[in-house]
Amino acid sequence: MCGIVGYIGNNAVADVLLDGLKSLEYRGYDSAGIALNDNGGLDVFKAGGKLNNLFEVVSSNALKIKKPTSGIGHIRWATHGKATIQNAHPHLSNDGKLVLVHNGIIENYKELKAELEQEGFVFNSQTDTEVAVHVIDREYRKGCSLEQAVRQGVSLLSGAFAFCIMHKDEADCIIAVRKNAPLIIGLSDDENYIASDIPAVIGKVKKIIYLNDGEVAVVRKNNVEVTDLSGNLLNKKVEEIGFNPEVISKHGYKHFMLKEINEQPDILRKVLAQHIKASDLPVNLGQVKLKLDWQRIENISIIACGTSLHAAMVTKYVWENWLGLPVQIEAASEYIYRKNTTGKNSLVIGISQSGETADTITAVKQAKEKSAQVLIVTNREDSSIVRYADSVLPLEAGIEISVAATKSYSAQLLAMYWLGLYVAEQKKTLQPAELGKIKQEMLELPAKMEEVLSNAENIKSVADKLQAYKSVIYIARGSNQASALEGALKLKEISYINANGYAAGELKHGPIALLDENMPVIAVLAQGETYAKMLSNCEEVKARNAKLIAVTSVKDKHADNLFDDILRVPEIREDLSPLLLNIPLQLLAYYLADGLGREVDQPRNLAKSVTVE
Ligand code: AGP
Ligand code: GLU
Repeated sequence: MCGIVGYIGNNAVADVLLDGLKSLEYRGYDSAGIALNDNGGLDVFKAGGKLNNLFEVVSSNALKIKKPTSGIGHIRWATHGKATIQNAHPHLSNDGKLVLVHNGIIENYKELKAELEQEGFVFNSQTDTEVAVHVIDREYRKGCSLEQAVRQGVSLLSGAFAFCIMHKDEADCIIAVRKNAPLIIGLSDDENYIASDIPAVIGKVKKIIYLNDGEVAVVRKNNVEVTDLSGNLLNKKVEEIGFNPEVISKHGYKHFMLKEINEQPDILRKVLAQHIKASDLPVNLGQVKLKLDWQRIENISIIACGTSLHAAMVTKYVWENWLGLPVQIEAASEYIYRKNTTGKNSLVIGISQSGETADTITAVKQAKEKSAQVLIVTNREDSSIVRYADSVLPLEAGIEISVAATKSYSAQLLAMYWLGLYVAEQKKTLQPAELGKIKQEMLELPAKMEEVLSNAENIKSVADKLQAYKSVIYIARGSNQASALEGALKLKEISYINANGYAAGELKHGPIALLDENMPVIAVLAQGETYAKMLSNCEEVKARNAKLIAVTSVKDKHADNLFDDILRVPEIREDLSPLLLNIPLQLLAYYLADGLGREVDQPRNLAKSVTVE
């Protein structure tokens, strides 16, 4: 994904664009650029690498245009062409008059590029984006309006794209286009904004228009017209922004990730207060409108990516236990291309924090086309994936800025726990006594999570000891197999240390060959029937001289001498334990990455949501 901004109004355009890009930096940071327009002059600034480099370029180059009236900006997550300044957006037409920024992928760019080069168009980058500039310019040169040229040019493109387009001779408007990549219009008095996501307009506007796929907006200072690709005027709903500026502040934490880790207990409290009011009361759907025909459901598939797939793994373990229903889980990128058995008696659950992950969107769209019932579990009810939902279960975790998913993962687990209990009550697959016990332990989760967070210094001291290592292995069993995978993902994605999670029983079938004094092992242990086997696996690890760290919810200490370090969380039943055991794993990753001086909130090569397949 990337971040796109546009502004037309009376404020300092360059400052508005840079400020907007700053709040979208979590969406990609390979390069950045802005273009300023004032009816006769186009000023383009680009910089490779972090956004700060663009700030320096703009501040050290006097603006040729004294008073721009409009501008567009882009922060890139490269898909086609290396992260170089040559490939940085904005991209220009050969006559230097038309300028464009793009989020997404143009899938048919190769054939269009060949055609355009045949016609004499000169390409100056390796990006797919440049094809869009030239096809629109080719239409514009035929004498039609910029808006018409955009509609005609864009109709030739396939793939996912959001564009902002300007022309030097029409500086009173910016054209915005959306197809399979998010784009919103922020409305204010005598000025209007365009952005890929809400953080870029929070605190600047109170009203927004969400563009839908196949829509083109002509944005002027005091007027916005939206049409479809045929030019038919559309009557778009103007919505209020529900977020306040506070959501994009670090609140004094060094990184958004640490802030978001510490927000988790309150998020759990807020969600529990809506759905589980007491251990002897039925689960309450609250604001969630579940339009699912449970009688029709014979199988459940949970489709997701990355951390969200780990939430799916925990859900499989817990729901099969609580509901007695078969639950398949699969990475969206695999589900899409497998001859799967999804049909009208399937419930397909798409879990996606951002709701913009292309693989997961494609997967649930496919499931919908096969007449499955689709439930979307997402932190962004305003996202693209919601379009394919019969029902939406909002996480209500608040905007998650840091690329590493933390609070959204805990919110996903909690959502699937309470929904699982709701269904268990409806289908009577759990006895009231067991239901009451589970609810009581869920109500105790926020306080227990706070207790774990209060142990942060101890967790940091363990993280400091791991800095010297180049690789780490995580092992666990049962519902915590997902915890091992999630702990490893957190570590590798922000510290760049090679980390892998394994089902502990699998260690002896190969990975144990990796063990020696240079390969620390983090064992995640929960009370329950797998605990004794976990201890055996830990003995096997110790016998290979590997450093052994326990992250455990088990109170008894008889095995403590087995471990070099122990990070304890309060006791909790095994099926709920991933929610608590994951907190030390989040903090271990955070402190290790921060200790190594990594860009914790914006790790290299990553973006907050992968909006390309
Ligand atoms: C998690 O820390 C990563 N940022 C990544 O694996 C992420 O979970 C994945 O890309 C899925 O994102 P989504 O939940 O927004 O679909
Ligand atoms: N595909 C375009 C490029 O590689 C846009 C990528 C993005 O969404 O940032 O430049």
